[in-house]
Amino acid sequence: MAQGFMNNDIVVEDWAGELTAVRHDEETGAHFVIAVHSTRLGPATGGTRAMVYSDVADAVADARRLAGAMTYKMAVAGLPMGGGKSVIALPAPRAELDSATWRRILQVHAANLRLLKGSYWTGPDIGTNSGDMDILRRSTDYVFGRSIEAGGPGSSAGNTAVGVFAAVQAAAREAGVADLSGRRVLIPGLGAVGAQVAEFAREAGARLLVADISHDRCAPFEAQGAQRVPVDEVTTTECDVLVPCATGGLITTRVAETVPCAAIAGAANNVLAGDEAAEVLRRRGICYAPDFVANAGGAIHLVGREVLRWSAYEVRVRVLEIGETVERIFKSARAQDITTGAAARQIAEANLAAALA
Ligand code: NAI
Ligand code: PHE
Repeated sequence: MAQGFMNNDIVVEDWAGELTAVRHDEETGAHFVIAVHSTRLGPATGGTRAMVYSDVADAVADARRLAGAMTYKMAVAGLPMGGGKSVIALPAPRAELDSATWRRILQVHAANLRLLKGSYWTGPDIGTNSGDMDILRRSTDYVFGRSIEAGGPGSSAGNTAVGVFAAVQAAAREAGVADLSGRRVLIPGLGAVGAQVAEFAREAGARLLVADISHDRCAPFEAQGAQRVPVDEVTTTECDVLVPCATGGLITTRVAETVPCAAIAGAANNVLAGDEAAEVLRRRGICYAPDFVANAGGAIHLVGREVLRWSAYEVRVRVLEIGETVERIFKSARAQDITTGAAARQIAEANLAAALA
């Protein structure tokens, strides 16, 4: 098992959030980070991301960025929750951990959640699933997203995919593509969300281009006629809509300057490496649906079912409204000559300010 981190310096300035808790577990070598960005609208809420990081500072920075995005996601979606995120920096990829190590990691995470006494609620994210939420929930209340068998609402991926596809269609319309039929839709990341979005795009008659680090995830789509794109060519391959459904940071400023597509809308959290990338996309006329708006279907699913007690039907209606929200954001961004991210943040800030009034 890998030993610790090369760099344990944590940068504490420049973060507008409320709290960052960090813990190291010697027994497993894992580091645990919980970032509470905002509790203004309700308890901070966001998934648990479990993966390998280059160092603990990187894990803290990721947790904080993701927690900030959750605040905006909840606020734009009109959900009564704040923004938070937990990151578990694993000593090795999850697939390589033995079950005792993973069990211990979940135990420590549950203890951390108990310590925060409900100011932060978790759920699934990259590296965790409904089964893990079932285990966490045995020793702490502050958990969304248990499996249906355990009495929870089940995976959020289906509703995330429905919302993402509504955003894809809205972004395409904004780019002058009224109908996806025959259009090239490129989807990097064919996991729980991306695979379902790919299915929707295929049903809409799109020409599907797919990419994943896992050959097995691409194979079923290739068998149905999709073109496989190497992972390192997704931002240089021409398409009408790019739909990032893997990890964040894909669109750096440099990528934004050259990416050959008309629109971008996907599931990946924090897909833009920064505000400058957003500005470059705007200047080039590339229609970008902000990630925290496009991928809110999972949050609507979890909070809708478990906090607001909505039916599955009501959740679906709210998720489909993401398409209209994205349209409204494009219109507002055009009218003010600002990026779509800035226009979306205005909606979030207005909802956050209303909560203070
Ligand atoms: P997942 O873990 O099921 O799928 C991710 C897929 O991306 C995997 O197939 C993986 O092999 C692939 N991948 C990893 N690195 C890649 C790379 N560099 N290039 C191409 N493919 C790569 O995750 P899931 O649940 O589908 O989520 C996808 C994204 O959407 C994540 O960023 C997640 O945070 C975000 N998201 C997910 C929500 C959900 O409800 N599941 C809700 C909101 C956002
Ligand atoms: N991790 C997913 C997201 O980023 C789903 C999720 C939403 C998990 C809300 C917990 C709470 O939206």
